[in-house]
Amino acid sequence: MPDAYILGIESSCDETAAAVVRSGEKVVSNVVFSQIATHQPYGGVVPELASREHLRAIVPVVRKALADAGQSYQSVDALAVTQGPGLAGALLVGISYAKALAFARDKPLVAVNHLEGHIHAVLLEERQKGNHELNFPVLALVVSGGHTHLYLAERRQASWSYRNIGHTRDDAAGEAFDKVAKLLGLGYPGGPVIDKLSSHGNAKAVVFPPSQIKHPDRKEKNQPADSITRFDFSYSGIKTAVLRYVETHNLQNAIETRRRNLCTIQRPKPEDYVGNCDQQTLDLVASFQRAMVDDLIGKTLAAARFYDAATIFVTGGVAANNELRQRFERDAAMEGIPVYFPSRPLSTDNAAMIAAAAYPKFLAGDFAPLEFSAEAGMALK
Ligand code: KG4
Ligand code: ZN
Repeated sequence: MPDAYILGIESSCDETAAAVVRSGEKVVSNVVFSQIATHQPYGGVVPELASREHLRAIVPVVRKALADAGQSYQSVDALAVTQGPGLAGALLVGISYAKALAFARDKPLVAVNHLEGHIHAVLLEERQKGNHELNFPVLALVVSGGHTHLYLAERRQASWSYRNIGHTRDDAAGEAFDKVAKLLGLGYPGGPVIDKLSSHGNAKAVVFPPSQIKHPDRKEKNQPADSITRFDFSYSGIKTAVLRYVETHNLQNAIETRRRNLCTIQRPKPEDYVGNCDQQTLDLVASFQRAMVDDLIGKTLAAARFYDAATIFVTGGVAANNELRQRFERDAAMEGIPVYFPSRPLSTDNAAMIAAAAYPKFLAGDFAPLEFSAEAGMALK
C-alpha cells in the first residue's frame, strides 16, 4: 500500500488548525492558530467571534500546513475535516472550505468526529514512537473543555467503533478548570494556569467532598441485559464549592486586585500568576486540581476494572495536565494497565488528530457526500 497524505482541517472551537499526516502514522506538518487572545477579554469562547476568526485564519493556516509538509492542494491524497461536535458556526467554516477544496481539486473528503480525533491522537503518537502493538479492550477518557467522556474502543480490521460508558452530567472537566480560574481572577483558559500554580500550593489544605451522582441510568436489577453500567462524572458541585470558599473566606477583594493586575500584563508568565496569588489562594487552587485529578482517575480506573480494559488512553486538552499525567501513570501501573497520552501539542485541539482518524476511513472508502453538514451535537459510535 503506497503512502497516503491526508490534509486535516479542524475548526470546531477556538483553534483554526490544519495538518498533513502520512498514512495515519507520521505528522508531516501541524499548524494551530489559537484564538485565545480574541476570547480572553470575555473569559470564555464567544461563538460569533470564533466563526469570524476561523474565516480569517483558514486560508493562511491551510497554506502553511501544505508548505511546511512540502505538499500542494493537488498532491495530497485526501482531505479530512471535523464534522462535530462543536460550535455550529465554527464547524461550518472548516466544512465549507474543505468541501470547496475537495470539489475544486477532485479529492475525496472524509468527515471526522472530533472526539474520535482526540482518541486517534494517542494512536498517532504511539505509531510515531514505533509502537504498533495494542491490547484490547481500550478504555479512552476524552477530557477537554467541552467533554468528559469514557469510551470502550474496538477495532475490526481497519474500522473502529466506540461505546460510551460514561460522560459528565453537567460541566466538563476543562470547563470546571476554566470557570474556577475565571472565578479566582486568573483569566482564560484556566487549565494551563491552574496546572502551573498547583505545584506552589498545599493540595491537602481544602477538602472537597467527592462528587455525588445519582444513577438512574446505572445498571440495576430487572433492567434489560443489554443495559450498560455507567461511570459518569459531575463537576458543577466543585465549582460551587470553590465559590462558597471564596465567599466564606472573604477573598473577593484580593481576586479583584489580581484580575486588575493581570489585565495590565500582556502575556502573563507563570511568575506573574504566582506573584499575584497569596498562599491561601495557591492552596485552594492546588486542592481543587487534586480533587479533579482524584475524581478523573478514580472513575476511569473503576471503569477499567469493571470492563477489564487492557489499555487506557487519556486525551483532550485536560490530558496536558502535569499532575493528571503523573498520577495516572503511577495509579494505572499499580493496576497493571498501560496508560497512553498524546504529547502535549497533540492533547489540545489540532488537525493532525483529524487527519489520523480519517486514515482508516480513507482505506475503507468511507467518504462524505458533498451535501453533509456540521453536527454540533454529534455522538461518537
Ligand atoms: O481539547 P481542547 O483543546 O478543546 C476542546 O475540545 O474543548 O481542550 C481545552 C480545555 C480547556 O478547558 C483548557 O483549560 C484545558 O483543556 N486545558 C487544561 C490544560 N491545558 C488545557 N486543563 C488542565 N491542565 C492543563 N495543563
Ligand atoms: Zn477537543
